[in-house]
Amino acid sequence: MAVEQTFDELHFAQQPEIETAIPGPKSKQLLERQRRIDSSAVAYPKVVPIAIEEAKGATVRDVDGNTFLDFFAGIGVLNVGHSNPYVMEAVQEQTEKVAHTIDFPTEARLDLIEALNDIAPGALNDNNRVVFGGPTGSDAIEATIKLATYNTGGDGLIAFRGAYHGGSAGALSLTAGNKYKEDYTPLLPNVRHVPYPYAQAQGIDPEDAADRALANVRELLEDPYSGLANPAGIWVEPIQGEGGIVAPPEGFLPGLKEIAEANDIPLIVDEIQTGFGRTGEWFASDWDDITPDAMPMAKAIGGIGLPLSATMYHEDLDTWDAGGHVGTYRGNAPAMVGGLRAIEFIRQNDLLSHARDLGEYIRDRLRESAEVNEYLVDVRGRGLFVGAEFADSEERTGKELVKAVQEECYERGVLIWSAGRRGNVLRLIPPLVLTRKQATVGMDIICKAIERHAA
Ligand SMILES: Cc1ncc(COP(=O)(O)O)c(C=O)c1O
Repeated sequence: MAVEQTFDELHFAQQPEIETAIPGPKSKQLLERQRRIDSSAVAYPKVVPIAIEEAKGATVRDVDGNTFLDFFAGIGVLNVGHSNPYVMEAVQEQTEKVAHTIDFPTEARLDLIEALNDIAPGALNDNNRVVFGGPTGSDAIEATIKLATYNTGGDGLIAFRGAYHGGSAGALSLTAGNKYKEDYTPLLPNVRHVPYPYAQAQGIDPEDAADRALANVRELLEDPYSGLANPAGIWVEPIQGEGGIVAPPEGFLPGLKEIAEANDIPLIVDEIQTGFGRTGEWFASDWDDITPDAMPMAKAIGGIGLPLSATMYHEDLDTWDAGGHVGTYRGNAPAMVGGLRAIEFIRQNDLLSHARDLGEYIRDRLRESAEVNEYLVDVRGRGLFVGAEFADSEERTGKELVKAVQEECYERGVLIWSAGRRGNVLRLIPPLVLTRKQATVGMDIICKAIERHAA
């Protein structure tokens, strides 16, 4: 089906338009009501104090009628934009027919599996199986832990410092941030976190960072006295997201794949945040031309934010018997149709090259601001997965600088988020349907804020 609407029509016309102080009076009421009855685990509104009324494309409107540019996309979920009409149309039709189908065959399910095969990285194309389980990224990570331990008979899991793989027990074991796990130990007992190549933080050049990181993994697997007796797999984000949009140096991921192969264990590449065009390729693995042995996916796979996750893995690993991996919500047909339509939309509108072009533009603008603000020490990422790292100034930590920029931005109508081990990285991950004009207006606001907070 041809896509009728242009990018401009995907968004609210006001881009942005702020009519009240933030939070406005109605947002304040809902925030207060939420504070009284919702969980104290609620986090996002504590940083960006708005209550959302509706959203379209790369624009979000709060209950007070303020319209924001969304440089955040529901944490990298809304790659084709909020309420994308091409996706919505099929989702609504499917919802009226049937929504919950467990793992019975439906056209929605099988069409999506075939579409995923078409965009699969490297040699996974035509050599894979896809398993659906629970709807979150963490669920997909749990599936990979089961897949790897079942196939290897091992229990040693290798992950990286700075990693985020989710919040359920197995996934949390792989997640590196101590703040997420310190109150919930013990988790899985046999997990090793080795350094990710993060040249900026290590103060070394990227090639050395990659060599060191690979040497650590190799030693862990090949030194007979490393203490890791029965390894099951290596889990890696192809670009660390929560860890600060840290793109590894060239050669790191291919090197990791070689080590995994030499040691006969799977390399599990977590494409949950980087998938579906986010980095300007279908998957970040494509940048380095590597083939994951298993690839958990979630976030953007449901098209317009419908909950769905899936794990693609090499067919040689498909050794499970019936029921080997399960979950009640493994047949969300509207989300599957949503995913299929989102893939079509990305392809028909060439959003991969759009993401690459716009990402370069955004990074260029940030680099210009770094000339004015010496504390903006690194600008990085690929496609529309952009990070800007701040160092501590004499008066404020990098984290405080990021927070100040973030506040000024939402007051002027741009929603941005943070990342990084010390919260000192601005994370810009807008929907891929962001227009050039929106990118320009948004970056004018973001760069002005960065330049104003130059100390
Ligand atoms: C790389 C990565 N893996 C896994 C997850 C966990 O996904 P979820 O929050 O849907 O469980 C996330 C979430 O941000 C992520 O960024």
